[in-house]
Amino acid sequence: MGQTSRRYSVCLKFPTLTDLMRIRKGILGSGCGGTGGKSEGSATRNEGVETMWGRLTGAMRVLPRQPVALWNGAGMRAMSSFAKKPKVVSVTGAAGAIGYSLVIRIASGEMLGKDQPVILKLIETEPGMKPLKGVMMELQDCAFPLLHGLHGTADLEEGFGDAEHCVLVGARPRGPGMERKDLMTANAAIFETQGKAINKAAAKGVSVLVVGNPANTNSLVLAANAPDVDSSKVMAMMRLDQNRAMGQIAEKTGCLVSDVEKVVIWGNHSNNQYPDIHHATVKGESAMKVINDEAWMKETFIPRVQKRGAEIISARGASSAASAASSAIDHFRDYVYGTGDMWHSIAIPSKGEYNTTPGLWFSLPRKCLGDGKMELVEGLTFNAFGEEMMKKVEKELIEERDAVKHLLP
Ligand code: NAD
Ligand code: LMR
Repeated sequence: MGQTSRRYSVCLKFPTLTDLMRIRKGILGSGCGGTGGKSEGSATRNEGVETMWGRLTGAMRVLPRQPVALWNGAGMRAMSSFAKKPKVVSVTGAAGAIGYSLVIRIASGEMLGKDQPVILKLIETEPGMKPLKGVMMELQDCAFPLLHGLHGTADLEEGFGDAEHCVLVGARPRGPGMERKDLMTANAAIFETQGKAINKAAAKGVSVLVVGNPANTNSLVLAANAPDVDSSKVMAMMRLDQNRAMGQIAEKTGCLVSDVEKVVIWGNHSNNQYPDIHHATVKGESAMKVINDEAWMKETFIPRVQKRGAEIISARGASSAASAASSAIDHFRDYVYGTGDMWHSIAIPSKGEYNTTPGLWFSLPRKCLGDGKMELVEGLTFNAFGEEMMKKVEKELIEERDAVKHLLP
């Protein structure tokens, strides 16, 4: 699993402002809403964008298409999109099951916005480079207007170079009969190495979402090995659990997931997490009152959400992938754009809130205020059952932390 040598890189150059002005002139020249046909615009677009498959295919030059919007009257919107500086997003495990779903959606603008160009840096192991090459070909073939750069590498410092956002997926998934913490030996060391590389190479203010399991403890290992990175920007993904809980409540109440709010996943991305509906609402009404079935909550809802990953592994023969990728997209989109008063379960290092042990990546409810700013939802209370659930999951996180002590400098 060496990750040192550069195998190949791919660059997509994006049009200069002059190119864009000429493109726009082409649109206006052909009339508002016109197709542009073989006007000045079509010559310009070929000039303005050049794709190079560096060492991969030997400087092959292709002529990618510009966004359709540029040629059918939505030119101003497309132009303003190109006016934003591209963001560098690094993704590990990009050729894996989650990565395959994820990178397409990042490149299409679903994560950082439909007006935000991205430069994708895809990181894989040496054996992963061949499938990665295929993923990169597909990305190129999608001709996403927002994809302003594409690089594939097994070299961590190159892959995390100038990264503003990192989605860390690359890690072993569990198989049937395994618990997520059984992955600790195989996976935690990956996050030690990646923490060091992010510390060295990423942009100042980088934000990191850890997806690879066990996500909370991997986040702890990563942050401990990245002392210059703000640890409150190293997040373990809990959004999949939150989405799962919302789906279950919507099904039970016959409502839409968009009617469900304020579900909290406390603690760990594990089967000891506490999916809590005591503060949740359905169409603004108390979920506890609407559901009015405590036995369902304790015997069906909580175990189902806790063990949903295993249920999917048993049905699919492989761990969740599309839903995990979708949750990563949801997480970063809401983190970057903000969602006002909505609550999201996010695991960053505890400062002792809700009597949790400081330094554990304990998921707590937070509001996303935009630009990566978050605010804790304070003042929630627990009944005896909830207190018990909180203690159990905290104990698990402490045990996990103790198991990776050798990786904490
Ligand atoms: P996968 O095996 O399909 O893909 C993993 C990819 O990561 C592979 O392509 C592999 O080559 C690559 N990889 C392994 N080590 C790497 C390293 N050191 N650097 C870069 N790339 C590396 O697995 P998957 O289904 O995509 O799952 C990936 C991880 O995500 C697993 O640990 C899984 O348990 C976890 N997961 C987490 C959640 C969550 O909610 N937090 C949800 C689903 C899956
Ligand atoms: C999930 O929750 O689906 C993932 O963490 C994969 C797993 O091992 O359950």
